[in-house]
Amino acid sequence: MAETNRGRTWWQDAVFYQVYPLSYQDSNDDGFGDLRGVISRIPYLADTLGIDAIWLSPFYRSPMRDWGYDVSDHTDVGPVYGTLDDAREVIEKAHASGIRVIIDYVMNHTSDEHPWFVESRSSRDNPKRDWYVWADGRDGGPPNNWVSVFSGPQWTFDEHTGQWYRHTYLPSQPDLNWRNPEVVEAMLDVMRFWLDLGVDGFRVDAAHQMMKDPEMRDNPPVPPDYVRPWKDMGPYDDFVHLYDYGHPDVHDVHRQIREVLDSYGETMSIGEVHIFDLAEWASYYGELDELHMPFNFHLMAADWDPASLRARIEAVLWHLPEGAWTNWTLGNHDEIRLATRLPDGHERIAALLLLTLPGTPFLYYGDELGMEETVIPDTHARDPWGQNVSYLSRDGCRTPMQWTPGPNAGFTSPGVSPWLPLGPDYQVVNVETQLADPDSILNMYRRLLTLRKKSDALRSRDFASPYEVPDHLLVYTRGEDEMTVILNFGDVVCDAEVEDGTVVFSTHRVDREGEAVSGGKVSLGPVEGVIVAHG
Ligand code: NOJ
Repeated sequence: MAETNRGRTWWQDAVFYQVYPLSYQDSNDDGFGDLRGVISRIPYLADTLGIDAIWLSPFYRSPMRDWGYDVSDHTDVGPVYGTLDDAREVIEKAHASGIRVIIDYVMNHTSDEHPWFVESRSSRDNPKRDWYVWADGRDGGPPNNWVSVFSGPQWTFDEHTGQWYRHTYLPSQPDLNWRNPEVVEAMLDVMRFWLDLGVDGFRVDAAHQMMKDPEMRDNPPVPPDYVRPWKDMGPYDDFVHLYDYGHPDVHDVHRQIREVLDSYGETMSIGEVHIFDLAEWASYYGELDELHMPFNFHLMAADWDPASLRARIEAVLWHLPEGAWTNWTLGNHDEIRLATRLPDGHERIAALLLLTLPGTPFLYYGDELGMEETVIPDTHARDPWGQNVSYLSRDGCRTPMQWTPGPNAGFTSPGVSPWLPLGPDYQVVNVETQLADPDSILNMYRRLLTLRKKSDALRSRDFASPYEVPDHLLVYTRGEDEMTVILNFGDVVCDAEVEDGTVVFSTHRVDREGEAVSGGKVSLGPVEGVIVAHG
């Protein structure tokens, strides 16, 4: 395996950026973003922003009940997104600009319009019957009490064959049966198809969910003193999910996925694993023969204060198996936008945190502008989750990328209705306006990304956090004490103790770069973060 700096491989050194294709750039004026739109924005990604890899959310053929996460053909591109040739071109052009490409691998389920499911539901003795999970009902109802993530039972009755099929998500997203070797082979072939086309890896969707209790035992209701480990999931939170994800057999599947990836050389996988018990979460690395990384959502689950964040960061690092590498993220297409979730003005220190912890950062499109969650009127609602439980809608974080202050924010042509409404602040919060302002958050991201690229310390594994710091500060060193990162969560000016050196980055003041730090302390403005280089 080729190695870059100090033994790290490309995905350990990279900053990833998630592109939600429907919302990035519309190239054909139908109001939906598409692959040609992504191609046209590669110069922004590579040269203006300066990220190293993109994760493209699904662009497969799909009836779009869950906006692409309901796949009806894993080896074709949905017409709204473009063509297979467009996908090929995204990969080629991204590579030519030094950007790696990973794509979503939607493995837990398909669309109910997938030909496999159409066959499977056609009769009980169809050869593909067992490609999905079918069961008899219990007492006139579903086989057990499992609820779907999107609420309602995890089972739907099929009149035609008189059995129930399981779906972790929507009834139109039936679960594949990964206990059937034919399914495993067919789905591994899907990976081979895209790897042959040149992708560098996969974001594995619902990576802990496809193996459930074979005895299908009921989940217990949550006890009265139950503390939810993660965000509010609505009715899904009524049960302890003992039996409907993470059965130990899941690890065998990940080993098989890894074998395929390894046979293609320097590829990678990052799996969506919503598990908050750190030991169980870390088990998805296997013996470094399963996922390259389970997605690390622990920062998002932590309270936003220095002590909680530091405790979480240290706990994650402590739980990593020997030799394993982690990642950090603060936003994606399923979460309330960072700028809205955090206290006002904290998005800059959030960026500093994300881009200076030991591990691979994953950014979400638009967060580099400080895009806010948009309130979507019911008339424009798109997300099926929100249609079941309105406050859980994810539409607000999926609005079009804001490129310019002009009509439709440059996402699509004037006069076209974008598939989701624009954020109301787009005339101020957009790439063009922010590029012209040296103090903008976008220019802050650009400076930080440049610094990170040049600094081995910021990309290294080394991390230490001193114990004795005031409550409003988060302080840690990177590299072999080569740099100190200091974040002020307080909204007043303060001094922080630090070894002498030079300020090489400030979240707020470009003019501080080069400022000498002496006398063992540095001053910080309200909610400011700095990096001090030593030696
Ligand atoms: C997780 C994805 O992130 C989410 O957007 C999707 O709705 C579900 N998996 C189902 O695929």
